[in-house]
Amino acid sequence: MSRQKKRKFAENLERENVLQPGKPLFEEIRGNWHRLYFKNQQPITIELGCGRGEYTIGLSQEFTERNYVGIDLKGDRIWKGSGQALELGLKNVAFLRLQIQFLERHFAEDEVDEIWLTFPDPRPRDRDEKHRLSNAAFMEMYRRILTKDGWFRFKTDNTDLFDYTLDLIKSAQISVRDLSYTHDLYQSDMLAEHRGITTKYEKIFSEKGEKIKYMKFRFAC
Ligand SMILES: C[S@@+](CC[C@H](N)C(=O)[O-])C[C@H]1O[C@@H](n2cnc3c(N)ncnc32)[C@H](O)[C@@H]1O
Repeated sequence: MSRQKKRKFAENLERENVLQPGKPLFEEIRGNWHRLYFKNQQPITIELGCGRGEYTIGLSQEFTERNYVGIDLKGDRIWKGSGQALELGLKNVAFLRLQIQFLERHFAEDEVDEIWLTFPDPRPRDRDEKHRLSNAAFMEMYRRILTKDGWFRFKTDNTDLFDYTLDLIKSAQISVRDLSYTHDLYQSDMLAEHRGITTKYEKIFSEKGEKIKYMKFRFAC
């Protein structure tokens, strides 16, 4: 591991807005986000595969009456977002270092009010479908932790992953309501919904000419 990475990981251990294995809050937080971390009752939005946490940081500044948790397995990416949150003095933000497969160990049923899935790895090979963060098993897990009226929002450049996810939620496997979507967000009347926030991967792929796709829906119970 490079010295720079070691330094970032050491800083994550000291940062109060980073929850990760080995820190006391990490094991205790499930069902207790409001009481133990945020110290308020504001609704919680989570950003999955947040990378540097552009949505977590951007939305938390615009919607101070909500709480935000950016989640990623990579410590150096979380370091970037958590550092920004500290510099900006954002009290309604946390970063959780976690493999999303284990989300339910850290969020109880109905504990989350909104989910943003931002540019997940497409995992195009059939044998990697189990790792796609929008597959049926992940969707079922998201349904369990989301409140009844909570929104699921998904943004990607990848047409195959987007259409795979659309097919899934239009099938009998996963039942949703209030679905709307676009294959070209920047030219659509849904544009305002992305709040003018562009992530690192969004910039890379839109500069390559890829159209940005976006969908939102609520789970049918
Ligand atoms: C393509 S990047 C997108 C990052 C950011 N959302 C953006 O748009 O710039 C995908 C991110 O998902 C994270 N990731 C992939 N699989 C994951 C998993 N199973 N659990 C947690 N994070 C994961 C990666 O570490 C990476 O930061």
